[in-house]
Amino acid sequence: MNVKKIKKIVVLATGGTIAGLAMDVDQPQNYKAAQVNVAQLLHSVVPAGLNVLTEQVAQIDSKDMSFAVWQSLLERVAHWAAQDEVQGVVITHGTDTLEETAYFLQAVLQPNKPVALTCAMLPANAPESDGTANLKEAFSWVQSMGSVGVSVVCAGQVHTGLAVQKSHSHKRNPFTSQAHVSHPASLQIPSVAQVLACTDWPHVALVFNHVGADGRMVRTLMAHDAPDGWVAAGTGNGTLHHDLEAALLDAQKQGAHVLRASRCAWGGVQSRDTDVLPYAGLLTAVQARVALVLDLIARRP
Ligand code: SIN
Repeated sequence: MNVKKIKKIVVLATGGTIAGLAMDVDQPQNYKAAQVNVAQLLHSVVPAGLNVLTEQVAQIDSKDMSFAVWQSLLERVAHWAAQDEVQGVVITHGTDTLEETAYFLQAVLQPNKPVALTCAMLPANAPESDGTANLKEAFSWVQSMGSVGVSVVCAGQVHTGLAVQKSHSHKRNPFTSQAHVSHPASLQIPSVAQVLACTDWPHVALVFNHVGADGRMVRTLMAHDAPDGWVAAGTGNGTLHHDLEAALLDAQKQGAHVLRASRCAWGGVQSRDTDVLPYAGLLTAVQARVALVLDLIARRP
């Protein structure tokens, strides 16, 4: 007899406000992230007839997201996405570093099934908590096979993993995304195996251009604990104070990899004839930092 297997959706929980609890439900802004486990989180959320499998990969506030948790998450997403009976994966995550995790997972894994990251801006026990609605939307998105690859499902919108950014600190819908963002062709992507085997992650520092900027921070760090790479969040089209630029050129001569992004939320950096340092295209500074970390892992012998 040919028994048709019911497809599963896998939920990987990592913490965040979606799993947070307010001490006083009338003051939901005073809460602690990552308190509710995945079973409690899904209570009365899973649509009838859906076969759901859960794993608690981490239980953290995403401001504390680490490479070790990324490795665990990558390993679990890769594992489940490779199973025939799995339709897709839902990941619960804090909003604060969600864009970095989305970029990382999409760049490294490029999954051929839907992987939906979802989240909340209000803790689980707040009267108007948005977590349940976001989770339901993430399930629908994965079930509909709307698209393959990593997406972010939040507040009725779906963003692609490489393009999403948290652009508002407290609105219920904190994310926006730019069209046409892709991983820069000049930067290499390591294999899943290379990332999982990595015990010593590249140190890539982020520095801003601003009024009164100079190269002190770059020179000081290069003299003491030299980073492997620098991302400079430049002004406007990635422009840098002449002293910061000089310090970054020196860092480059010393072997550090340097990439220019923009501190503007939108538009990225376009190349100019006068460029002396490489640029990150449409990537935001935090996306460029993840991209450079991956490039440095991929280039290791
Ligand atoms: C977090 O990122 O874990 C806390 C904030 C949030 O989820 O909105």
